[in-house]
Amino acid sequence: MTLTEEIAKRKTFGIIAHPDAGKTTLTEKMLLFGGAIKTAGAVKSNKIDTATKSDWMEIEKQRGISVATSVMGFEYKGQKINLLDTPGHQDFAEDTYRTLTAVDSVIMVIDCVKGVEIQTEKLMEVCRMRKTPVICFINKLDREGRDPYDLLDEVESKLNIQVRPLSWPISMGKSFKGVYNLYEKQLNLFTPSQRKLSDDRIIIEDLSSEILDDRIGTNLADQLREDVALIDGVYPEFDPKEYLEGSVAPVFFGSAVNNFGIKEMLDTFIKIAPGPKSRQTEQREVVPTEDQFSGFIFKIHANMDPKHRNRIAFLRICSGKFTRNKPYNHVRGTKPLRFSNVTSFMAQDKEIIEEAFPGDIVGLYDTGNLKIGDSITDGENLTFKGIPSFSPEIFREVVNKDAMKTKQLDKGLQQLMEEGVAQLFTFEIGSRKVVGTVGQLQFEVIKFRLKNEYNATADFVPMNLYKACWITSNDKKKLDEFIRSKQRHIAKDKDGKLVFMAESKAWLQMVKDNFPEIEFHYTSEL
Ligand code: G4P
Repeated sequence: MTLTEEIAKRKTFGIIAHPDAGKTTLTEKMLLFGGAIKTAGAVKSNKIDTATKSDWMEIEKQRGISVATSVMGFEYKGQKINLLDTPGHQDFAEDTYRTLTAVDSVIMVIDCVKGVEIQTEKLMEVCRMRKTPVICFINKLDREGRDPYDLLDEVESKLNIQVRPLSWPISMGKSFKGVYNLYEKQLNLFTPSQRKLSDDRIIIEDLSSEILDDRIGTNLADQLREDVALIDGVYPEFDPKEYLEGSVAPVFFGSAVNNFGIKEMLDTFIKIAPGPKSRQTEQREVVPTEDQFSGFIFKIHANMDPKHRNRIAFLRICSGKFTRNKPYNHVRGTKPLRFSNVTSFMAQDKEIIEEAFPGDIVGLYDTGNLKIGDSITDGENLTFKGIPSFSPEIFREVVNKDAMKTKQLDKGLQQLMEEGVAQLFTFEIGSRKVVGTVGQLQFEVIKFRLKNEYNATADFVPMNLYKACWITSNDKKKLDEFIRSKQRHIAKDKDGKLVFMAESKAWLQMVKDNFPEIEFHYTSEL
């Protein structure tokens, strides 16, 4: 197969949701439809053995939240689909944001009882910033949820995106009968089944047909006719181009746990979702069909086994063909890297692969050479854009509790930061180390992992800090002057970039007013 044909077969998307909306369930059902797993429940009931499926870390078992982001590949109707799972928990939002840099589109799951929740709003903001095409799946229609029209209004107003329903529910809760596929003009009737893949669909070209009355009763049939007429009147016809530009989100209704409405969405997804897109680097735009290979690391995951300090780096392939054992240019590094242990995330097991193509995510076995944001290429020095660090919200000073284990602590901290678990800032004066995170939970993760994997013990003492701002200025003299006058508040991030550690919002504003030549950035991508 040619490179262009390989690329045309691929779709890489992320699945995002507020916790409990049904993301894990939907993921599992898609794998089931793709034949990647055989029985429903495999992902959940057997989380440890099928760890590669959705949640990898030890800590996940303890806390029951999806900490890690992982990748699952499956084939569906001749296409190769790469699904990237994301942690829904807000404390791991940064992990999710980085994952969104590696996908070409997104499926967003919304609970029909709860409507649009806060985490969904934040994630949507990131999608909007990146103009990522989004499909909404409104889940749990087997429950008495909110009125579908209200839900659509809420999606539009809270997520700030136009919607276009492509399926429509026939009643809900106990009397839920099914969904009518507005895109394909097909009726799919509900036979609740958590084990079987229901495929009881009839094709109704003309909604006035009596078959509809026979199947769902005259009342619901009339209601559906009315709803469809209303939707077609209110919403403009679906234009795939608007979806691809990220300005319209198609909406599907269903019930993930009952395998319902998923096939409608999946069948439409493979028709309309974008394939591997071009990517911006600092140097130029990279087009997937270029012969020269290029890709970037968006996630690093520690080995589950604490005895082995190796890691898996997740590489998104952006152009050309990736080949196992070929020496590649590690753009930030000094020597070429050759990867012999390359895993794909297809089906149930991770397996060694020989080659991969744009859109694919491969796992590279790493002994500590790679960092998040690193580019790997055939030779050209390219730096992919859009993998920023955001200013943390919570800051704590690291206090070593075991002087004999200082080296272990330093190594552990460095490696955890390279994995993107949190950010480390080192004050210029006194070399005090400060860890910054988005949520409280990370400190527990860091503590646990430092002990478990590095045998180091540290305390994290709360600090009164508001934001870490990366600072730049066109005026070198002014920048030096600023650094001298605010020396006690200047730190460096992991890449040695200068950061101003602001203690409060009001104070930051005052400093900004006093130093108009200095630019203060909330993300590291300047
Ligand atoms: P998440 O990954 O987004 O956090 O959600 P997850 O899939 O774990 O689903 C959260 C809960 O919602 C689960 O119930 C799941 O079974 C349920 N759920 C998912 N889809 C549907 C649906 O279509 N209808 C209904 N009624 N429930 C649904 P749980 O009690 O937390 O777990 P479990 O014991 O059922 O596994």
